[in-house]
Parts: sequence; structure tokens; C-alpha cells
Amino acid sequence: MPLFLYRMETRNDIQNIEDIKLLVDTFYGRVREDEQLKEIFNTVIQNRWPEHLNKMYRFWQTVLLDEHTYHGSPFVPHAKLPVSETHFEQWIKLFNETVDTHFCGTKAERAKWQGSRMAEMFLIKINYFKNSQTIPLV
Ligand code: HEM
Ligand code: HEM
Repeated sequence: MPLFLYRMETRNDIQNIEDIKLLVDTFYGRVREDEQLKEIFNTVIQNRWPEHLNKMYRFWQTVLLDEHTYHGSPFVPHAKLPVSETHFEQWIKLFNETVDTHFCGTKAERAKWQGSRMAEMFLIKINYFKNSQTIPLV
């Protein structure tokens, strides 16, 4: 078989809720095996993984497909987590790898960009609240 056949692009862009589910399931599957992240997630989420995954389907459906099924304040549950820059770097690395493994295209690029922006904002807020007594409202 000619070599180029092995190199043909087989990935599609993120297009529908099935794609979002694949992305979210694969990503959190990796998170749950990651030495740096698994304990933080499991300690908080415990037996509520189905609920968390459902919420994350809706979050990414809202962000990437413009179907507004998620409502809430995404930052609040992160405010008091024991996380710093290295955790967010690992989160971004796993997320980007997951996107690239399965998808290729405009939405795939947007997913990576949005994930990184959100991580950046969360980190700034977490560091800010660590140094103050204020309770975050959003
Ligand atoms: C500086 C950047 C950002 C700020 C200050 C910000 C702020 C907020 C605030 C205050 C809310 C809560 C609204 C409410 O309680 O009803 C919210 C909701 C939300 N944010 Fe952001 N956000 C930022 C970036 C992002 C990014 C990068 C994403 C995508 C990854 C994102 C996705 C969402 C979604 C999906 C909601 C829920 C919307 C809804 O309830 O209908 N945000 N944001
Ligand atoms: C090291 C980084 C992160 C850690 C350890 C982390 C951890 C968690 C945990 C434990 C929850 C569940 C809270 C609960 O249900 O009790 C959660 C919820 C959530 N996370 Fe993260 N997260 C991280 C980064 C991010 C990033 C970068 C995003 C956005 C792209 C994100 C989006 C969300 C959303 C939307 C929820 C649901 C919020 C709600 O309850 O409405 N997380 N996260």
C-alpha cells in the first residue's frame, strides 16, 4: 500500500453533540488517570461523575455549537480548589491533546483557544481570591 494512504487526514471538525460527548468523555477519562489532576477531581466529584460529564457536554455544546443548554457561573466551583499554574498547564495539555487526537478544523481550534482562555482567567481569579477574604460571586 502506498505510504500516503497512511497519512491521509481522517479527522473531522467538531460538528454535533456526539462529537462533544466524545471530546468530553475522552478528556475526563484522561484526567481521571492523570497523576497530577485525578485526586483533585475525584475528591470533589466522588460519585457524581455522570452529572459532571453531563454538565460539561452542555458547557461545550453552548460554547462550540451555539446551542445554549448550559447556564451558570463556571468559575464558582473552582474558586477554592487547591490548584496552581502547573495544574492548569496540565489541564490545557491534556485538553489540547484530546482535541487534536479526534478533531481537526475551525471548531477544534476554537475549543483549544477557549479552553486556554478559560484556564487563564480561572488562574488569575484563583490567585486573586487566595490573597483576599472576598467570596467570589461569579
Ligand atoms: C475574561 C473572560 C471571562 C469573564 C470575565 C467571564 C465571566 C462570566 C460570568 C460572570 C458568567 C456568569 C453569568 C451568570 O452567572 O449568569 C459567565 C458565564 C459563562 N461563561 Fe464566561 N467569562 C469569561 C470567559 C469565558 C470563556 C473563555 C468561555 C468559554 C470557554 C466562557 C463561557 C461561559 C459560559 C458558557 C457561561 C454560561 C452562560 C450562561 O449562563 O448562559 N466564558 N462568564
Ligand atoms: C486544573 C484545572 C481544573 C480543575 C482541577 C477543575 C476542577 C473542576 C471540578 C472539581 C468541578 C466540579 C465541581 C462540582 O461539581 O462540585 C469542575 C466544574 C466545572 N469546570 Fe473545571 N476544573 C479545571 C479547569 C477548568 C477549565 C479550564 C474549564 C473551562 C474550559 C472548566 C470548566 C468547568 C465547568 C463549566 C464546570 C461546571 C460548573 C458548574 O457547576 O456549572 N474547568 N471543575
